Amino acid sequence: MSRVLRRQFLLSGLALVAPRPSFSTGARIDILPDEQIGVISPHIYGHFTEHLGGCIYDGVWVGENSKVPNIGGIRKDLVDHLKRIKAPVIRWPGGCFADSYNWRDGVGPRDHRPRRTNFWANTPYLWKSSDGPSKYEPNQFGTNEFARFCKLAGAEPYFAANLRSLQAFDFYEWVEYCNSPTGSTSLADLRGQGGSRDPFPVRFWGVGNESWGCGGSFTGDEYAIEFRRYIEWVPRFAQDLKFIASGPNVADYAWTRSFFEKLVEKDKGALRDVFGTALHYYCGTTDQGSSIDFSNDGWYELLSKAVRMEELISNHWQIMGEVDTERRVKLVVDEWGAWHRTDPGIAPSYLFAYYPTLRDALVSGITLDIFNRHADKVAMANDAQLINNINTLFLAADDHFTATPIFHVFEMYAPHQGSTSVRTIISAPSLSQKATGALAVLSGSCSVKDSRAVLTIVNGDIQNAQESEINIRNRRITSARATVLTSTDIHAHNTFDSPNALQPKEDNNPRLGSPLNYSFAPASVTRLDLELG
Ligand code: AHR
Repeated sequence: MSRVLRRQFLLSGLALVAPRPSFSTGARIDILPDEQIGVISPHIYGHFTEHLGGCIYDGVWVGENSKVPNIGGIRKDLVDHLKRIKAPVIRWPGGCFADSYNWRDGVGPRDHRPRRTNFWANTPYLWKSSDGPSKYEPNQFGTNEFARFCKLAGAEPYFAANLRSLQAFDFYEWVEYCNSPTGSTSLADLRGQGGSRDPFPVRFWGVGNESWGCGGSFTGDEYAIEFRRYIEWVPRFAQDLKFIASGPNVADYAWTRSFFEKLVEKDKGALRDVFGTALHYYCGTTDQGSSIDFSNDGWYELLSKAVRMEELISNHWQIMGEVDTERRVKLVVDEWGAWHRTDPGIAPSYLFAYYPTLRDALVSGITLDIFNRHADKVAMANDAQLINNINTLFLAADDHFTATPIFHVFEMYAPHQGSTSVRTIISAPSLSQKATGALAVLSGSCSVKDSRAVLTIVNGDIQNAQESEINIRNRRITSARATVLTSTDIHAHNTFDSPNALQPKEDNNPRLGSPLNYSFAPASVTRLDLELG
């Protein structure tokens, strides 16, 4: 194994309170409830669905006449599971697909809707696979179906509009279709014929997707001009519309700088109309390998790559602040996740689908903890993608369905939604490895609401448990419950045949006391529910 355990302590967060050296435990966690970072927007726990592979067709939409249990054509198992994780928001219809999509194709009677070539049809896998909805878009799932899906799941819709190949007026009319009052416009009537007399309504609107690439190959300043034009005088219908600008690819800081500088060139007030700028970051291993077959080095490499999200948020945020001095605009990380190659055991038309393992669960825990720690900056985030795709929470094929370990992390982290993120100092050994440098063994976040604190911790060390002393400043821990997702096999994952291979377990007997001593299992994601006195 190429890593060496160093007994050197990494501090996450500014060390305003110097942790007392502790010799009885390997790590120390100091929760500082009076140092509030911000309320964790529930939208940080959002999702993303694209007309890509098996995500929409067979994933979300099975059709009303399917033998698969469904609610008006929408997969019932999926809806039931989304309620369990309190899914707050779902982005649709892409991704790159969005900038090739005409929303008019997906409204009106289903049997009259046109068939089109899907954006992803030219992907090598799909050329070779049989024709199907991933290649030739049947438009059976459109605006009304998506809005109904969101309503069933209890989530808010977030639409990505086509900026590359439609006009600003098409965007204007899509907003009118979704939001104009019952009976007020011809488009409201058309919406009513599709089963929704009442407005949906849709507040979140992405103006293009990856406009630096598949969304038009713009530069940041070219895009800023387009963005201003698209959002100017869009009808509001009493909605507080929240426009989201296409943001940078990973560490493209030049994009962020040029977009913001150009946006305000005419009038600094332009910032008032921008809810967020969208950052996309996927992590993967350099061998672009299999999700289920990897070495210990591959484990550590992926976790180190996931950690990079923190630096991306901080750096883009700092650049944004050079122009947006009043901090009106937030970050919307509307695509994130671990991207491995499509699993050869899954039909090739289910493009980008693979079996997420315990390793991917840790990536998700690390990432969600980063978002929590930056609750003042990140207003929304969308795991890419919900079902049958990258970093997926679910796999489904016909009447087979399974929740993946990533779903379990979302369920474990749901209690953070709407609580206040507080500064938490984690003082723990670091793992240093040849390939990727230092990786803190433990990382995590803590949120507080009334007399309860939720502490989520990822232990990335494959072999060693971390004995930890947990302190909460000026409060006492009066009770604690633990929920742990781990396995002795780092490749553990769920399949249709073994849907419960990897599931969280309750540990109701942590050694109580203030400080609380808790041993974080190797290769684990843990949630501690703490009652405070
Ligand atoms: O999520 C898959 C693709 O990744 C999206 O369509 C695109 O936005 C990104 O490059």
